[in-house]
Formats: sequence, C-alpha cells, structure tokens
Amino acid sequence: MDLKNKKVLITGGSAGIGKSIIQELVQRGVRDFAVVGRRKEALDALKAEIPSANFLTIQGNVAKVEDLDKAISTVSEAWGELDILINNAGVVSAGLLSDLSDEDIINQININVTGLILLTKKALPLLMKSKEGAIMNLSSGYGYIAMPFYSVYAATKAAVGQFSDAMRRELHQYPIHVMTVYPSATDTDMMKTAVVGQMDTPEEVAKASVDGLLNGEINVILGGKEREEQIKMNFLEPEKIDAFAAANYEALRERTKQHRSM
Ligand SMILES: NC(=O)c1ccc[n+]([C@@H]2O[C@H](COP(=O)([O-])OP(=O)(O)OC[C@H]3O[C@@H](n4cnc5c(N)ncnc54)[C@H](OP(=O)(O)O)[C@@H]3O)[C@@H](O)[C@H]2O)c1
Repeated sequence: MDLKNKKVLITGGSAGIGKSIIQELVQRGVRDFAVVGRRKEALDALKAEIPSANFLTIQGNVAKVEDLDKAISTVSEAWGELDILINNAGVVSAGLLSDLSDEDIINQININVTGLILLTKKALPLLMKSKEGAIMNLSSGYGYIAMPFYSVYAATKAAVGQFSDAMRRELHQYPIHVMTVYPSATDTDMMKTAVVGQMDTPEEVAKASVDGLLNGEINVILGGKEREEQIKMNFLEPEKIDAFAAANYEALRERTKQHRSM
C-alpha cells in the first residue's frame, strides 16, 4: 500500500494506541485524518499536538448510532471517499462475570463490537470508492487466548477477529484489505488500573500495525514468538492453558481486580 494522499477515519485516535497509530502514519506521509472520540478536550489536544496533519474531529461515542452517522456524513461531505478505516476505540471491565454490572457488560459489547460493525457497514460505500483501501480492526491477545476475569472483553475481541476475517473474504472483489491487530499488554490509559509487569509501548504497537498495513498482513500479533506458541497451544491443547489459569487463578484475580477503563 502507498500511503500518499490516503484519507483515514480512526476511532479512539485521541489517546493510547490510536494516537500512536496517527503519529506513525503522519511520519509515513499521511495528512488527512477523521478522528472519533468522546472527549472534546482530548480531540482538541490531538490537533494541537500534531499541527502538520489535517484533522476532522468528531466528538462522539461509537456505541451511539447517531454519532456513527455523524462521523460518516462528516467524512462524506469533506472527502467524498475514504481509504483507511481504523476501528481502534475499545474499553475493558474485568472481574468475575457475576461481579460485572449489566451496564459494563452491555457497554463493552456495544463499544467493542456493535459500534465497530456498524461503523464498518456505514463506511463501506465510501471505502468502495478507494483504489487501494483497508480496514484495520483492533482486537487483543485475549481475542485468541481467553483468560479468567476477562470473559466479556475476550468475547468482544474474539468477535472482532472473526468479523475481520469474514469481511476480508466478503470483500475480496474490492481493493479493500481487512486486517486485525492483536496487541499484548500495552502501556496506555486503559492499563492504568491493571497490575502488569512487562508492557509494550503504544509506539511499538503502532509501528507493527502500520508495517502490517503496508505489507498486506492479515494478522499483526504482538508478543513475539512466545505469544504465537501460546496461541497454537490454546488451539491444539487448550487444557494446558486451563492448567496455567488454574495454577495462577488467585494471582490473576488480584492483578485484575481494579481493571476497568470504560
Ligand atoms: N492497552 C492494552 O494493553 C491493549 C491490549 C490489547 C488490545 N487493546 C485494544 O487496543 C485499542 C486501543 O486501546 P488503548 O489501550 O489505546 O485504549 P485507551 O488508552 O483507553 O484509549 C482509548 C481511545 O478510545 C476512545 N474511546 C473509548 N471509548 C470510546 C467510545 N465509546 N467512543 C469513541 N471513542 C472511544 C478514547 O477516547 P474517549 O475516552 O475520549 O472516548 C481513547 O481515544 C482498544 O480496542 C483496546 O481494546 C489494548
């Protein structure tokens, strides 16, 4: 893919991994971004921080259909087409399923899955006008390997991976590549309430994601060879992952007790 003159719509571009992806794309020549996020201050700060890019900022919640419609009409009026859609916005609320509020369960699904699917549906007519388009969806390592206390989050992220694969196959007649990024623990606001040792930086995740986009990769999996081995093990011998989770149950519970970023 040639990034020159590409027009990018990204959700959650005002912080964390999304913001780093914008910075990485700017370094590689992209100038035009439409960014969706709930907090206006964060969107304004993004514009001030990266004056070399042109931003359309759309204050909105991806869980609200009318906000998605607003994002699409903004892009349609300003550009009339779209090259790259990056579905990055995501939230997490960890804990025993019985302890999660109904609201946190519904909102994780609405933000991480329903909003992502609806925005993709609504963006497709614009993406189909691109001569070289792409959809990048942010899943998680938990989308491959589900862990206790992340039942709902893991379910949403597995859904993201399956949605990506189905859409890539559904769109094969179009020049629209569909890819999924599976970050490991990454040092962003989302992880402030989790207790994790080693984390990737959002810049590392952004670089791997943009490299993957340029190379036409289908899955960008962070966490190196070790992570790939674990994914194979989870598929071929899931009882081994069960044993790991059982042996570390209390420690995992303790570390994730406060983990909530909604
Ligand atoms: N950090 C990790 O360890 C990790 C690991 C695996 C996967 N991921 C995934 O990577 C993606 C980015 O995560 P991150 O760590 O960068 O998160 P983050 O630091 O919490 O940033 C999230 C971004 O999404 C926006 N956002 C959140 N909910 C939104 C909503 N309902 N509507 C519109 N915008 C919304 C936020 O802005 P507002 O709050 O202003 O809306 C912010 O710009 C997520 O999909 C996450 O699940 C992260």
